[in-house]
Amino acid sequence: MGDNQLFGAGFGLFTLGVAASVLRKGSAVALQLLRRRLMTTLEIPVSDHSYHWVLEWIAHRPDMSCHFSVKTAFQKLHSGKISTGFAFVPSPGSHYMWLGKLSCSKLSECGKLHIPYETVTLTTIGRKKEVFEDLLLQARTFALQRQKNMTLIFKPMGAEWRQFGEPQRSRPFQSVMLAAGQSEKLWNDVTQFLHSQQWYIDRGIPHRRGYLLHGPPGCGKTSFITALAGELECSICILNIGDWTLSDDRLLHFMVSAPPQSIILLEDVDAAFLDRSSEVQDPRRQGMNMVSLSGILNALDGVVSSEGRIVFMTTNYIDRLDKALLRPGRVDVKELVTYADAEQMCRAFRHFYPTENTEHAEVFSSNLSKFTEKVSMAQIQAFFMLHRTDPKYASENVNEIIKASFIF
Ligand SMILES: Nc1ncnc2c1ncn2[C@@H]1O[C@H](COP(=O)(O)OP(=O)(O)OP(=O)(O)O)[C@@H](O)[C@H]1O
Ligand SMILES: [Mg+2]
Repeated sequence: MGDNQLFGAGFGLFTLGVAASVLRKGSAVALQLLRRRLMTTLEIPVSDHSYHWVLEWIAHRPDMSCHFSVKTAFQKLHSGKISTGFAFVPSPGSHYMWLGKLSCSKLSECGKLHIPYETVTLTTIGRKKEVFEDLLLQARTFALQRQKNMTLIFKPMGAEWRQFGEPQRSRPFQSVMLAAGQSEKLWNDVTQFLHSQQWYIDRGIPHRRGYLLHGPPGCGKTSFITALAGELECSICILNIGDWTLSDDRLLHFMVSAPPQSIILLEDVDAAFLDRSSEVQDPRRQGMNMVSLSGILNALDGVVSSEGRIVFMTTNYIDRLDKALLRPGRVDVKELVTYADAEQMCRAFRHFYPTENTEHAEVFSSNLSKFTEKVSMAQIQAFFMLHRTDPKYASENVNEIIKASFIF
């Protein structure tokens, strides 16, 4: 009897355990089924353009739960002054908000080893995909409104292009003064290219164009590309050819996967043609990759290419570049951006001192042109900044620019 009681109690407990486990499993399956039938989920990976738009949009919603991460922008200016700015982004985890009729969204992020891989998962009650379309459209409009007159900079990180720093205020196109007609010529070429996709398709030519700006330092190559990107409302994707983590395959991958409506910028492209054999011997570089000449040539003119791709390259030493790089198809437009001529000097003066009598601009330009020493626009800009309140002094003491150029 005693035995039977023990057995009965044991059997009872066993049955309860099995029942509980079945119940638990069953409820999990039921929940899963319920989720599948009653909820719709959208996953946005970090590599997608909407990712940043959605995060920004969520962070600015009034009904957003108060759980943020801080993103601090830190900048040390040349003067030594430090400026900081704080931006709040939704923290990793779940956030709930009301979007129209009884629907809610959930956000989650996860990290994977060293490469930060993040996704935003949106979940809504109901089976209406349109909620997501609406949400993405709202997020896009909101982000583009905030990015108006801003230029986004992208750099490769891991296997993806990632936005680098905060959006930069676009540089006004007119603030970069190249030789007469040069900016207009480049502008016309780029805009014609962007508007002639069908023309390229009809003739079976890949829709891509390469530009090379070459010339001495400080004459406006980078500034022009930045201003052009701002005017075209494009972002800039910077690829550093000298980067030891960039292999031929990665270069090709990044060329093909650049975000839409962007300019790919290869600065100091001559770095690829340096003799790096001594560096290769360096034990610290063992096992690391580097871009080869054929890697660059293939990336610029290979079989794979994204539609409407614009590549800008810059160099101070065009004579160091291989002829194969300079041929049409890789470099379609070559422009020399060089020292300031008399007309540029005049324009620069008027740009810096807009209320000043134009005579002073003429005096400045004719005084400066008398010197045999060539000056870059960067030197002129530095000189004007030094005498920003005294244009008369600036126009009459141009020799100080020449003297200063010997210091560097
Ligand atoms: N043509 C120009 N018009 C207006 N500003 C200019 C011009 N050229 C240079 N500057 C000024 O000089 C500075 C340096 O210019 P930038 O970086 O564009 O030169 P760069 O040609 O790219 O030089 P590097 O070959 O050394 O990279 C910038 O602050 C820019 O404002
Ligand atoms: Mg530059």
